[in-house]
Amino acid sequence: MDKFVIHGGPKLNGQATISGAKNALLALMPATILAPGKFTLDNTPDLRDVKTMSQLLEIMGLGVSLTGKRLRIDSSTINKFEAPYEQVKKMRASIYVLGPLLARYGEARVSLPGGCAWGPRPVNFHIEGMKKLGAEINIEHGYIIAKANKLKGARISFDTPSVGATGNLLMAAVLAKGETFIENAAMEPEINQLAQFLKKMGAKINGIGTKRLSIEGVDELKPVNAATIPDRIEAGTFLVAGAITGGTVTLKNCIPDHMNAVLSKLEQAGCTINIEHSSITLKAPSTLEPVDVTTDVYPGFPTDMQAQWIALMCKAKGTSVITDSIFVDRFKHVPELNRLGAHVETEDNIAVVRGNGKLKGAKVMSTDLRASASLILAGLIADGTTEVLRVYHIDRGYESIEKKLQQLGAQIERVQTEEF
Ligand code: EPU
Repeated sequence: MDKFVIHGGPKLNGQATISGAKNALLALMPATILAPGKFTLDNTPDLRDVKTMSQLLEIMGLGVSLTGKRLRIDSSTINKFEAPYEQVKKMRASIYVLGPLLARYGEARVSLPGGCAWGPRPVNFHIEGMKKLGAEINIEHGYIIAKANKLKGARISFDTPSVGATGNLLMAAVLAKGETFIENAAMEPEINQLAQFLKKMGAKINGIGTKRLSIEGVDELKPVNAATIPDRIEAGTFLVAGAITGGTVTLKNCIPDHMNAVLSKLEQAGCTINIEHSSITLKAPSTLEPVDVTTDVYPGFPTDMQAQWIALMCKAKGTSVITDSIFVDRFKHVPELNRLGAHVETEDNIAVVRGNGKLKGAKVMSTDLRASASLILAGLIADGTTEVLRVYHIDRGYESIEKKLQQLGAQIERVQTEEF
């Protein structure tokens, strides 16, 4: 077990390079099930979730190898149509194999993901959508047992846009017979990359980047090469690291256009942002202004940046209100931030932050990926030493975060510990 030991204080200055997006790659990898052959995925980040998805594909018989940043997947050897509980419990995104398995092999046995660290996360949209496409679905002993002779195009409309359900149903619909419409679809860049990837494989998809996707099923798809888009959440987290420490940071390999909501909130907080092609420079103000945020589906402010924003607002002078409209109780970082001397109160999906800029180092515990990020950010400005335990959460979705922060001047070390 590793922990991070952080000595707060130094302003972060310099350059960091942003890695490939976890949530894009976790959809692209299962999409390879849809066509037999050899795929190449470049800009692959070294993340625990990517390893978990690789293991899952290997269990199903696919060949997966990573050389540097190039991931090679051979999907011609698939021989098992199952995502076992042991894999799904490590990573909910394992459910992404459901759509491609059903579409290509007409059967899938996928463990039901349970709740997650911050509460219930249902998969009813995935299941109802597959049924609309003609699949017969039974839940037995904690598994989704799905069968279909041939999926058939249908009209699917989500009550609320879901990233995972949009991706899963898109992957199911590309090989279905006839036309599928997905209304109220997610428009996140990671879903758009999946749709572009499927198109490159030969799928017929219209409306990419809009709320309404239409898919005309084709008989077969072919393997392709692609490069994963940059991780807008990693980039947002590093911009907050610059802002909270009062520094100036430049991030390379970003798509600034994917980050408009976060960039605009950082500007409202007093930061100066400069964009040049794929690089973003942030200069922090001497005093951060409190800024309210309500998370929303893309292009709104991402829920995956909510925890980091709360950490930033602890540094601002004044009160801010942060509302998470996507998840009801994604605030497991708040009691831990309060152990560092923050003044944050929550009720339902709302957090009120009374910022005063003063935090004091302490031992704190990660509970999930973005919560860990917010604790590290707080540790960067806390007086004395902060120890962040259970950093395996952060390794799920941030590539070498401590090395990138060290490069910017942070005093952060990864230390092996018996503590849990
Ligand atoms: N929802 C349902 N039923 C469903 C699916 C979703 O009610 O069948 C609800 C959820 O409870 C939530 C909302 O719809 O209130 C949106 O959830 P969504 O399905 O979009 O979330 P997801 O696909 O499970 C992905 C990301 C998350 C990110 C959310 C929201 C991946 C692998 N995960 O999850 O990323 O928070 O979208 O943007 O893409 C993270 O990276 O830390 C992370 C949690």
